[in-house]
Amino acid sequence: MKRTAQFVLVAMVLVIMTGCIMEGNKEKINSPNGKLLLEFMLSGKGEPTYRLHHKGEMIIDTSFLGFDFKNAPSVKDGWEILTARESIHDDSWEMPWGEQKIVRNNYNELVIELKETEAPHRVMTMTFRLYNDGLGFRYIFPEQENWEEALIMDENTQFNLTGDHQCWWIPGDWDIYEHLYNTTKFTEIDAISKRSNDNLAQTHIPENAVNTPVTMRTDKGLHLSFHEADLTDYAGMTLKINKEKLIMQSELVGSERLGYKVKHSLPFKTPWRTIQVSEDAGGLIESKLIVNLNEPNKLGDIDWFEPMKYAGIWWEMHLGKSTWDMGATQDMNTVTGKKTSTTHGATTEHAKELIDFAAANNIGGVLVEGWNTGWEHWIGFEDREGVFDFVTPYPDYDLKEVANYASKKGAQLIMHHETSAAPRTYEQQLDTAYQLMEELGIHVVKTGYVGQIIPKGEFHHGQWMVNHYRKVLETGAEYKVAINAHEPIKATGIRRTYPNAISREGLRGQEFNAWASDGGNPPEHLPIVAFTRMLSGPIDYTPGIFNIKLNPYKKDNQVNTTLAQQLALYVVIYSPIQMVPDLMENYKGHPAFQFIREVAVDWETSKVLNGEVGDFVTIARQARDTEKWFVGGITDENARDMKIAFDFLKEGKTYKATLYKDGPDAHWDNNPTDYTIEEMEIDHNSKLNIHLAAGGGFAMSIMAE
Ligand code: NOJ
Ligand code: CA
Repeated sequence: MKRTAQFVLVAMVLVIMTGCIMEGNKEKINSPNGKLLLEFMLSGKGEPTYRLHHKGEMIIDTSFLGFDFKNAPSVKDGWEILTARESIHDDSWEMPWGEQKIVRNNYNELVIELKETEAPHRVMTMTFRLYNDGLGFRYIFPEQENWEEALIMDENTQFNLTGDHQCWWIPGDWDIYEHLYNTTKFTEIDAISKRSNDNLAQTHIPENAVNTPVTMRTDKGLHLSFHEADLTDYAGMTLKINKEKLIMQSELVGSERLGYKVKHSLPFKTPWRTIQVSEDAGGLIESKLIVNLNEPNKLGDIDWFEPMKYAGIWWEMHLGKSTWDMGATQDMNTVTGKKTSTTHGATTEHAKELIDFAAANNIGGVLVEGWNTGWEHWIGFEDREGVFDFVTPYPDYDLKEVANYASKKGAQLIMHHETSAAPRTYEQQLDTAYQLMEELGIHVVKTGYVGQIIPKGEFHHGQWMVNHYRKVLETGAEYKVAINAHEPIKATGIRRTYPNAISREGLRGQEFNAWASDGGNPPEHLPIVAFTRMLSGPIDYTPGIFNIKLNPYKKDNQVNTTLAQQLALYVVIYSPIQMVPDLMENYKGHPAFQFIREVAVDWETSKVLNGEVGDFVTIARQARDTEKWFVGGITDENARDMKIAFDFLKEGKTYKATLYKDGPDAHWDNNPTDYTIEEMEIDHNSKLNIHLAAGGGFAMSIMAE
């Protein structure tokens, strides 16, 4: 199938410049549907501020905007408005792959040029874009006399809340997003004491701050989510919590090496600061605000990347069944000093077995971890610079032979580059490593950044690393390589501009269930993730574990969902690459495996059928360019009954549906593998009652007859 990744205009483009609408020190715009209202004001002291209203009610109170610099006075007060321009924008663009094919980009924009009334008379522009699903705003520092370079010590953007909302948050960690979500009132956010987790000893959380996206629900049931879009050549933003004043203020990720947080020559612009607003929880998932705020596709057609499911030599190392290195010293149990495996996973023979399995089961790709030299030094080795080699296979793995075998069988080999957080070593080898991939016809790499960043004093989410992750994307594009990053920088919609940014981790993935000493991801984890982390972009969660209790490998660990929920996750959690991670033998003889064979990975459209943050969610997705639909529903630790309506199906057509649901006695802990399969005919008017067990779910495939 040919994928057109060009910026395609399919709707009207309407940009009206209304000229100057200055009204003293205050400007305002509405969202296209009139429900949201944004006000920009200068305070009596000339401080830039904004407010946001929803249906006449204030939802963000007066919030100040500003900066502190190392080499210039702060941006705080003493500003005047020079010009204000409003415009309307309405067009559409096509996602080369995604949750939906066509995305409408409809907003009203307000651009305000500001000038300092006193020396140094700097100028700054604020751009606000108000959509029906929320607000994005950014600062622009134009080229100007006497100011060539900004060394930012911090950005002081405020979000002034109008109530003590219910919040779903993870700590504002400068290194990793792999935390469990907390559900508390805003005034109960305590990131410092909630950070304890022995898997995350190396992370840096200097303030009572949260990471984004952070999602909230007001007492009146309005949903808000705070994040950022187009994080380019800048530091990631955490949000510092002021409980007394109900204010969140940006706290940029810093660098202990450099002594400032962001360095930029002028002109430059910041990422967009975003507030998604929805009357129901599901609207947050359907919102396309984050991608819309990014620049159009820069890469053109990327038909060399095909969305796919993939199997791999991976879960077995997390279970302790095999090792990454050929000397058989390194598996996930090595961390706890209880290593059990004695065999190297990535052998030529084993990779071929996986390729055969993939080819037989409509699984497009195979990931092989532990194929290259360096793993023998992985765990506990501090001087990680120069250790991993991204072109040299272990002697028992014939990379060329495996690549040839994969292409003969019509499967894609997925490359693996664990950098062990030594990005300079990786950058030295990038061209050679990607050239090798190009020669072998390999178009996807999974990257990893486990550990503290070398050089010391840098953090995963600071400007220096943001630029590294971007360099990897840009180099990947040159060699037709798509990136699935683990331990990544958060997604901020860059996939629109660089559609080779296909997926990433950036959350507690399935792997925690194999080894976390805190019991793994609880049943509420994914019903929270769907409304928080997933708002930022595709997730490489690796659903589909059938051997829920992990016997005989991990007596003390398990997956905390039912098997039916594992199926549902292929639909609920969005990613253009979805792993089929369990050991091949665990899928054998399971009729439920048919759903994984069939489920699509690229969508024409997606609809959230129901959902409440942290409780449950059901999503229906139509496979791209087909009449096939797939539905997935999941619940937290509470069993529940759902009534599903199928009015998203075409009227007048009959469909053959297969429902995979929890068995009558299913329970995530007591009886996770109890499931039933039902076949039925449904149409546009059908309604179905479905019971979901505690920690359970259901999955459905729907084909036009
Ligand atoms: C952490 C990643 O999340 C995991 O998927 C990978 O197997 C290990 N690092 C090794 O690279
Ligand atoms: Ca990880």
